[in-house]
Amino acid sequence: MQVEVIEPHGMCAGVNGAIAKALALAKARPEGDRSPIYCLHELVHNEIVIGELRDLGFRFVERIGEVPRGATVVFSAHGVPPQVRAEAERRDLKVVDATCPFVARVHRSARDFAEKGMEVCVLGDPAHAEVRGIVGEVEAAGGRALAGPAGAAAAKKAGGAAPLGVVAQTTMNSDEVERAVAELARARRVKTMAKVCGATKERQDAVRRFCRGAGPGAAVLVLGSKTSSNTRRLAEVAEECGARAFTAGAMDELSRLDFAGVERLGVTSGASTPERFFMEAVRSLRRVPEHVAIIMDGNGRWAKARGKNRGAGHRAGAKTLERVLDWCGERGIRYLTVYAFSTENWKRPKAEVDGLMALFARMLKTKERDFVANRVRFRMVGRRGDLSPKLLSIVESLERKTEAFERQLIVAISYGGRAEIVDAANAAVARGEQVTEETFRRHLYAPDVPDPDLVIRTSGECRVSNFLLWESAYSEYWFTDTLWPDFSEADFDSALASYAERDRRRGGV
Ligand code: FPP
Repeated sequence: MQVEVIEPHGMCAGVNGAIAKALALAKARPEGDRSPIYCLHELVHNEIVIGELRDLGFRFVERIGEVPRGATVVFSAHGVPPQVRAEAERRDLKVVDATCPFVARVHRSARDFAEKGMEVCVLGDPAHAEVRGIVGEVEAAGGRALAGPAGAAAAKKAGGAAPLGVVAQTTMNSDEVERAVAELARARRVKTMAKVCGATKERQDAVRRFCRGAGPGAAVLVLGSKTSSNTRRLAEVAEECGARAFTAGAMDELSRLDFAGVERLGVTSGASTPERFFMEAVRSLRRVPEHVAIIMDGNGRWAKARGKNRGAGHRAGAKTLERVLDWCGERGIRYLTVYAFSTENWKRPKAEVDGLMALFARMLKTKERDFVANRVRFRMVGRRGDLSPKLLSIVESLERKTEAFERQLIVAISYGGRAEIVDAANAAVARGEQVTEETFRRHLYAPDVPDPDLVIRTSGECRVSNFLLWESAYSEYWFTDTLWPDFSEADFDSALASYAERDRRRGGV
């Protein structure tokens, strides 16, 4: 099955803004403050986001009356009716309004229509929080709202000369909105501001484009929660275009889907689906490793073959590393660990060692901007005490500046697998611990990083050379004769293709 990412997909600006407001609130709480932060309705309709906010102390309620007097309450991205705002004021609540700006615009249009004395037809699902908010806005302005399919039917039937204001839930199927407005306009005079939001429309159009070009074996997988209207609409759009549609809100749901008979699978996601779930899902569908580790070998031989000094080989190798980091990003590989300098490499001539240390310092300093722009977290594993104070301060400053990012480049410098095990053992002994595999792992240099799935070694050498001895216990290995500076995208894809075909039994059957 060929797996294709449908672009654009995923989070829209309104959802991003709402989540940023909620996270800022949680962050601003004084240390140790465990009092709940209330959110009226789910902030956005995504179970992963809601689960994470619950872990941060958010409590989700459906009625404003459930929020204790004086507490902080967040209004969800779907917006609230004015009656709720008034009640929040009466109850002295500290309000943080995370309403999507596009939804707020629909509220304003609906109110304008109502204030001009028009009946307002609200296209959408009358039970959805967004539609309830818009209906409340119309009613607060003294108007009459006709919501949902029944409301639209009543508005058509009534006919007459009085103009009808038409607005729509921002996450509807854009074709359906156009059809509904056209039908209403045939029955009576309409003034409309019924448009789905731009991001929703772009994502739906991208699914339409994918389905148009795809053959009979094509299907669309929409990643997002069943409670999310725009997620359900994306699946509907695919089905309208004749493709099979699948939906999954989390990895366990994805693992239960049966893609038998699907030759091309387009993957998209709803406007509230976190990108890291999207990446994890695509990776598992394509059988792409989460963590690739590389022994970047052959710089010296590459340089010698060209009559250059070894430093030139290492500089060319550093360029290859930059390219490989990009390829990892494009393929959804979250962790890349590279062996840049081993505990044994200190035995090399001083000029080469000094040249390598200067290259590390230069590269880490000049690439800082790229790490931040590409949202890559940099980490070092190895014996930090062996580094010069200057290099260590460059390393640690870059680590601090990038620590919030999800994708990671982990560089092993003055690293040895045996040294790491000895260091971890000593840390455990110092704490008087009787270790198990799990507790021992906590003392490794990067304990939170999952073990490498695939270890690549270039230059024709088929040995482990003291690299990730603990972590690579069940890694798949792939060797190539290519020298590291010549390692190409085709080589990388060959390694990934080989990995995708392997049956990782991890000692089982
Ligand atoms: C092994 O080739 C390579 C190294 C010891 C250095 C690798 C370092 C880089 C590619 C630079 C990376 C830069 C950063 C900032 C991480 P070799 O010298 O053993 O080659 P040979 O076996 O042909 O002699």
